[in-house]
Amino acid sequence: MTRYRIAVIGGDGIGPEVVAEGQRVLEALAGVLGFECEIERFPWGCAYYLEHGQQMPTDALDLLGHHDAILLGAIGMPDLVPEEIALRGVVLAIRFGFDQYANVRPVKPLRGAPFPLANVDPAAIDFVVVREATEGMYVGLGGRYSPDAPQVAEIVGVRDVFGRSRELAVQTGVYSEAGCRRIMERAFRLAEERDGRRLVTSATKANAMPHGMTLWNDVFDEVAGEHPDVEAEWANVDALAMRFVLRPQSLDVVVAPNLFGDILTDLSAALLGGLGFAPSANLTDGHWPSMFEPCHGSAPDIAGRGIANPTATLLTVAQMLEDLGEPAAARAVEAAVREVVAAGEVRTPDMGGSASTAEMGRAVAEAAARIAAAG
Ligand code: IPM
Ligand code: MG
Repeated sequence: MTRYRIAVIGGDGIGPEVVAEGQRVLEALAGVLGFECEIERFPWGCAYYLEHGQQMPTDALDLLGHHDAILLGAIGMPDLVPEEIALRGVVLAIRFGFDQYANVRPVKPLRGAPFPLANVDPAAIDFVVVREATEGMYVGLGGRYSPDAPQVAEIVGVRDVFGRSRELAVQTGVYSEAGCRRIMERAFRLAEERDGRRLVTSATKANAMPHGMTLWNDVFDEVAGEHPDVEAEWANVDALAMRFVLRPQSLDVVVAPNLFGDILTDLSAALLGGLGFAPSANLTDGHWPSMFEPCHGSAPDIAGRGIANPTATLLTVAQMLEDLGEPAAARAVEAAVREVVAAGEVRTPDMGGSASTAEMGRAVAEAAARIAAAG
């Protein structure tokens, strides 16, 4: 029997509540489809930080490295731990540490989920954002300087206001040729595998960011040339944001640098009904474990009340099963989520219902087991 070692980091806020439902669905399917999940939980995040002064222990990556996949709930207690410490200490440390360069976020609205647009048919929307996740503006390079620091002396003359400032901050984005290439290749491969349009849209902004984004564009042209069977186009990210709202049905695969992808995928989460519906996977090239974490945050306002919508996590578990090599299980979870949300009998408060997180998880687990058993 295939046995998967899954590391579970519930994290903060609603994180532990929603991953518990993910585990429930995994266990229900494992029983039916004949695989096993050996789950190891790690109590990391802000609560851990408040006790130990760090978000994860120093050997965290060694501990996680032995697993086949990582399932993460959410990190963040903004009232108690500064955001730049909370998120860099777990989410970004794992993404960077395991070179999880491909952040894959499918956007296929569920029937029955809230939908914000009046003039678009949600059933016509089916695209994926493939976001680069280890470079760009997230590398954390730069610093805060006084204007007389040698690092900034050179640029102080450029604008009068620089010299008049008590402090300057430099935040550098880094884009490598190989880093652009691998995410773009992944996007084109995905477009080839998907039914339908075979279109890759590159999010860029060379008109304002002439170094990083011209490299990005050059590599995109090269990779597009190597995939003549896929249509390729680019769009400046601002115009693309508008298209996400006005013509989302015209998209198929969107490839984006880290920060643009981050922003665009909160916008696309709105098309799904909110962050409670938006799944996400951080994929490696297979050498290290990939991490599966819904797009949403820790939602401290509703934490501990058992009312968070677990849908995003359950769809994320479907992505995890697909990546582990259990496509039947992945399809069963996705079909079960679609069935439960469309039926509308079990709805969490964000959907206008009064069901609990666990009730929703149980409904999906039962439906998934039934669908899987029926083959
Ligand atoms: C996301 C989140 C993260 C990101 C934060 C929590 C660091 O917004 O996964 O989209 O910016 O990547
Ligand atoms: Mg985000």
